[in-house]
Amino acid sequence: SQIFQDGLKGVLPALPVDPQALEQAAQAVMTPQARGYLDGMPGTMRANLDAFAAWNIVPRMLRGVQTRDLGVTLFGRQFPAPVLLAPIGVQSIVHPEGEKAVARAAASFGLPMVFSTASSFTLEATAAGMGESPRWFQLYWSKSQAFNASVVARAEAAGCEAIVVTLDTFMLAWRPLDLQNAYLPFMQGVGLANYFSDPAFRAELAEPPEQNPQAAVRHFLGIFNNPALTWDDLRWLRERTRLPILLKGILHPDDARRSLDCGIDGLVVSNHGGRQVEGAVSALDALPAVVEAVAGRVPVLLDSGVRRASDVIKARALGAQAVLLGRPYLWGLALGGEAGVSEVLGNLLADLDLTLGLSGYRNFAELDRSSLVRAEK
Ligand code: FNR
Repeated sequence: SQIFQDGLKGVLPALPVDPQALEQAAQAVMTPQARGYLDGMPGTMRANLDAFAAWNIVPRMLRGVQTRDLGVTLFGRQFPAPVLLAPIGVQSIVHPEGEKAVARAAASFGLPMVFSTASSFTLEATAAGMGESPRWFQLYWSKSQAFNASVVARAEAAGCEAIVVTLDTFMLAWRPLDLQNAYLPFMQGVGLANYFSDPAFRAELAEPPEQNPQAAVRHFLGIFNNPALTWDDLRWLRERTRLPILLKGILHPDDARRSLDCGIDGLVVSNHGGRQVEGAVSALDALPAVVEAVAGRVPVLLDSGVRRASDVIKARALGAQAVLLGRPYLWGLALGGEAGVSEVLGNLLADLDLTLGLSGYRNFAELDRSSLVRAEK
């Protein structure tokens, strides 16, 4: 309604409202390096979007939807909408204010932001701009258990309310565009703020990162790749934090069942925005089997391809409790810093309120499988 009110005064939205137009506008202002970083494997990225297009909402009529509630409860905490900001690393590559701008925008709506381990600002600096607004921490589980333990403790101290362990990126994938750029930002230490500031990480170096950044980056590269991880390792983390632990990157129902055996509190069905395995199943296509395997015992979240409100509704109808918004908020960041992120988030919430109501629902709990039909080809 803000958009309508501004429109009456002749004030137009600062950013394109349509997600595709937003993406194109952001591409036009980003450096080639940033464009390469945001990209992914073409087949998997397309599959993520096609999977949403393959479902249609069947709107219901005359259901008295004048009062609508977008709220959702996760781990005992009430959130304004079933939308979190996905963990995305190295955000200063698209805007100098990076994660700090995103954190302020998220906090202005009370939407939870998931901090990436690989952020350009420390998690403490990012949290500082959020007041009491909700935040979670995403862990890249490195070979250095000292660093893992230390960074999780820092996240707890900074008020993070859940730990999201990303399982699908124990090695960086064959990403042609990033490789073309030789992963240059990482090589220059951008995205390593949490590592370079960490006492456990620093204790593993002969000289501090300020004196020998190249050696510090080399050490990071040495501990980041961790293909030896197995299910048994989860016990270590379970014993170290009382926060809810979610596993991000689950796509197979057997892995979902296995997660429950390990005392995990939630899952994020995700293929990392199509940035890891080319040809991987789309997150939305993988969702129903995971939801069935979990059978309501823990919340299942989803990301990879969420672009507009109807995508959130489809994911909810197929059993996800909430979604993580990824690239769209980065496009807003690239175009307008904090204000750009706020505009993207505000538009999504307004779209959600309208589309939920026009579909005949007062809240997300009313959605189920019968809210959708498979689109005819
Ligand atoms: C990511 N993602 C990600 N995930 C994570 O756990 N830690 C991270 O540091 C990053 N970094 C990152 C950078 C960039 C540029 C992108 C696009 C993605 C994955 C992210 O959390 C989420 O899974 C995807 O963004 C979802 O896909 P869409 O909806 O953005 O296409």
